[in-house]
This record gives sequence, C-alpha cells and structure tokens, in this order.
Amino acid sequence: MQLQDKRVLTLMTRPRRLRSSGAMRDMVRETQVNLGGLIQPLFIVAGTGVRDPISSMPGVARMSADVAALEAKELASVGIRAVLLFGIPDFKDATASSNYDPHGVVQTATRAIKAALPQMLVVADLCNCEYTDHGHCGILDARGDVENDATVELLVRTALTYAQAGVDVIAPSDMMDGRVGAIRRALDDDGYTNVAIMAYSAKYASAFYGPFREAADSTPAFGDRRSYQMDPANAREALREVFLDIDEGADIVMIKPALAYLDVVRTVRDHVELPLAVYNVSGEYAMVKAAAQNGWIDEERIVDELLLSFARAGADIIITYFAKDYAQRHG
Ligand code: PBG
Repeated sequence: MQLQDKRVLTLMTRPRRLRSSGAMRDMVRETQVNLGGLIQPLFIVAGTGVRDPISSMPGVARMSADVAALEAKELASVGIRAVLLFGIPDFKDATASSNYDPHGVVQTATRAIKAALPQMLVVADLCNCEYTDHGHCGILDARGDVENDATVELLVRTALTYAQAGVDVIAPSDMMDGRVGAIRRALDDDGYTNVAIMAYSAKYASAFYGPFREAADSTPAFGDRRSYQMDPANAREALREVFLDIDEGADIVMIKPALAYLDVVRTVRDHVELPLAVYNVSGEYAMVKAAAQNGWIDEERIVDELLLSFARAGADIIITYFAKDYAQRHG
C-alpha cells in the first residue's frame, strides 16, 4: 500500500511537462544573457589602416585607432554598446612611459571611437605589462619584484590621461594593493567624478591568459605574476579582494578568468550588490575556436551555453571575444 502511494506521487510530479515545447521552455526560462552587458575587447596598435590578425585567437585582430572606430560602428550596429581597449604600443621601457603619453594608443583610439560614435561606452584596461620592456605589470624593485606603491602612482598618472581622452570606465587589471582608492581620489580631484571604475578584483595567476600575452606581446621576460595575481586555489581571498575594492570606491567588480572560476562568481554574487563582471579570457576563447575548427564541437551552441553559464552563475556583465558574434546571432 505504501509502495503504491509513492508511485502515484512520483507520477504526479513530471518536470518534463515544462519542457514539452519551445514556447513552454521560453516561458519558464530562468536566465537570459543581457546584450547590454556584453563587452567586446579590442587590441589597439599605432598607425592607420592596420588590421593585423592574431594567430592564437582566430577572428581577433590588432587594430589601429581608425580601424577600431570603424569596428565600433559595426559593433553598435549589431547591438554591442561597450568596448574594452588594450593598448599595444610601439615603444616599451622599464617604466611604461608610453602608457601615460596623452597621445598613446589607448588615448588616441578612445578619441577616435568617441568622435565616430559618442554613445559607445569605452572601457580602458589599465595595466603596465603591455608597456614595459620586461613584461611585468609595474615598476621592478632591486629583486625583480613589482613594487606596489610606485606602480600605483604610475597607474594614477595613466588613468588621468585616459579620463582626459574620454574613457568612460577605467578597469585596473594589475592587482596592486590600494590602486582603486588611489585612482578614485585622483579622478575626483581632477573633476572626473563620472568616470567609473571596474576593478579586476579577483584576477587569478592563470595559464588561460596565454594567447593574450602573445597578442599583446606582454609575456614576462622572467618569472611569473604570482606575487601579484591570485592563487587559483583561493576562493575566500577573492571575497576579501572584492570587499577591499568596494571600500576603495569600485563601481563594478570583476572575476577573471571565467570558466574555471564560476564558483567564485557565484560566491561573490551572493555577497555583493554591485554589478558583477566576468572575463571570458583569451585561452578560453582559443580552446573553443581550436576545437570548433577541428569539427569536434558546435561553436555556436558552445558559445551560447558558455555565456548562459556566466549569467546563471551571477554575472551581470560579460567581457568576451565572442561578444560581436553572439550579438549578431541574438540581436
Ligand atoms: C593585463 C591583462 C591581461 C589580461 C587582461 N589584462 C594579461 C595578464 O594579466 O597577463 C588577459 C586577458 C585575456 O587573456 O583575454 N594585465
């Protein structure tokens, strides 16, 4: 008698009912990817008319400022409203001086994009590794380690030139302590109270940045970034980094990379009300592209599933090299 009751109960509950048609599935879908939250990264080089493909990132190219402005127009036409700029300068030295040059690559591209398309949100990645001849993210001390406070001063100086060029959001990706507060104060002191800060709060020392470093020519000449980027084993520490950045004035916090860190995204989402961004990095992009080119996976379905997983884990903003492609298919 008891057994029979149990069977009746089981049959009364049929989750498959809600999967029985497309309309039904659409009606009960829990998560959507917000096109307004997608950010397309762009690699900027000097010169004009340059579009130089990056072999480790099929479909991604380094562009000069004029080409980036055209690209921004194309992005806008498919519904992408924000770009993230990375500068790859012609000239590198020990103190990243081409980064705070008012006519540097990021500053020039920002002005070009804003002139062509004032409503495009320009986010500028703020770091020194693309600008130093040693490839580390800041100024080195005698032992070859990155000196925190001197590097923060350098970041502040560069951030002001970015703001002056018209950048809407500064995104420090260096992982120096105290940089968010220092940048916020300097921006406010100079009247840039509306320039937002999207902090790479929990940025892990990850092998997934490999293709980016090839693209940006920013592989450290010696050593690695483990004395400033986070240990992949640590999740609680991510929360601590996030809270520090919020205390210092961050407007948006970010977790990077994405795929192998979705537990961190979920934990941060559950503790924080600020907009949360996730960075689907170069190695994650390259893995999908390589497998798709071999015919081993269906790229479009994989990309849709990945972006959905970022949103489901709690990300509001998704930085991804797939942004344009995704918007083209879903706009
Ligand atoms: C700069 C920076 C890196 C990335 C974003 N900003 C490289 C690094 O930290 O070595 C990686 C982005 C990607 O892999 O797509 N510090």
